[in-house]
Amino acid sequence: MDLLPQHIAIIMDGNGRWAKKYGKPRVFGHRNGVKAVRESSESCAELGIKHLTLYAFSTENWKRPKFEVNALMSLLVDTLKNEVETLNKNNIKLNAIGDLSKLPSKSYSALLECIELTKNNTRMTLTLALNYSSRWEIINAVKNIGRDIEAGKIISDQIDSELFETYLDTAGIPDPELLIRTSGEKRISNYLLYQLAYSELYFTDLYWPDFRKEDLYKAIIDYQHRERRFGKTSEQLT
Ligand code: IPE
Ligand code: IPE
Ligand code: MG
Repeated sequence: MDLLPQHIAIIMDGNGRWAKKYGKPRVFGHRNGVKAVRESSESCAELGIKHLTLYAFSTENWKRPKFEVNALMSLLVDTLKNEVETLNKNNIKLNAIGDLSKLPSKSYSALLECIELTKNNTRMTLTLALNYSSRWEIINAVKNIGRDIEAGKIISDQIDSELFETYLDTAGIPDPELLIRTSGEKRISNYLLYQLAYSELYFTDLYWPDFRKEDLYKAIIDYQHRERRFGKTSEQLT
């Protein structure tokens, strides 16, 4: 087994509960989560991990109080503007998945700008899942395949996993070997349902703003002790 995952996906969860613990509004937790984003991105890049994908805002998160949604969207704009220099210094390329055109226009343009300004970086790709829903992504892929069939670009017999994957938002990105979720919740919450088919899952009770470099290392070490069998028997692997 490759000792280092090529791709780590994280569900950054527990900002609200972290803030509550300190008697502060939920938004305080989101603001403090940015440090954990910076630290995990830098640590992954230093380790030589090629892809880090962070769940930043789900399609379902629009159902939160308007005040919180607005705060998250403006935090996104501020963070993208503040971090672009650090991303370039660290040679990290920004990417995004999800139904991006439905983001508020300020967030969308800040995102596009940051993607543009970091597009030549090569050490690691940091993908933000924004207005992301895995079911939406899959349905959208099916829709686009349908359109390409109607346009005569492909025929249905050509559809296999390789072709299907090119229609997903994550086209070109290898599946995550490791998924980390913080805050003690043990669910996938509509994240990368197709891509996580054989990922190792790691759950920690830490709230996202408390997640540090050492905690990332702990998750990777745990992953390194797993036996990834992909349907085979243990004996077949040796
Ligand atoms: C994760 O923290 C951040 C987002 C979903 C945007 P939460 O805001 O979900 O925090 P909890 O789960 O309520 O503690
Ligand atoms: C998942 O967290 C989405 C993000 C981390 C952006 P949620 O806090 O929204 O998930 P549920 O509602 O607990 O499943
Ligand atoms: Mg949550």
